[in-house]
Amino acid sequence: RDVYVLNGPNLGRLGRRQPEIYGTTTLAELGKQCVRWGQDLGLAVRFQQTNHEGEMLDWLNDAADRGWPVVLNAAAWTHYSYALFDACAQLEAPLVEVHISAPSKRPEEFRHTSVVTPHAARVIEGQGIDGYRQALVFLAEGGAQ
Ligand code: DQA
Repeated sequence: RDVYVLNGPNLGRLGRRQPEIYGTTTLAELGKQCVRWGQDLGLAVRFQQTNHEGEMLDWLNDAADRGWPVVLNAAAWTHYSYALFDACAQLEAPLVEVHISAPSKRPEEFRHTSVVTPHAARVIEGQGIDGYRQALVFLAEGGAQ
């Protein structure tokens, strides 16, 4: 079964970006891991990252058209993008919201709101990159039906 793993802005610098918060694994390494984890679980992972909101919306619209489940780390868009809210609302297969850090426990007030959560079958935060594996396990174990 095909699954999107979609990543939003600034995650292209994963591994170099505030490693004390986000760790030292690069986006390329995370992508390889996700593909491997997916293979072990019988999921064909399409791993993508963009700094451009419209591109993210195109992928989410594509997931809606295809009926594919989505693992989504929308990064900062999580906290304020109503276009993202509307795109997530159209998904029919399960959506898992993932954050490497735990935004709900970070000091910035703006991180305590998520437009993704209302549409998510599950939220995984604060687990580092293992959160992506947990999201794929959830989808493989019936989250994805
Ligand atoms: C993040 C948390 C967000 O608050 C932040 O804007 C990010 C990354 C995470 O994975 O912990 O860019 O989604």
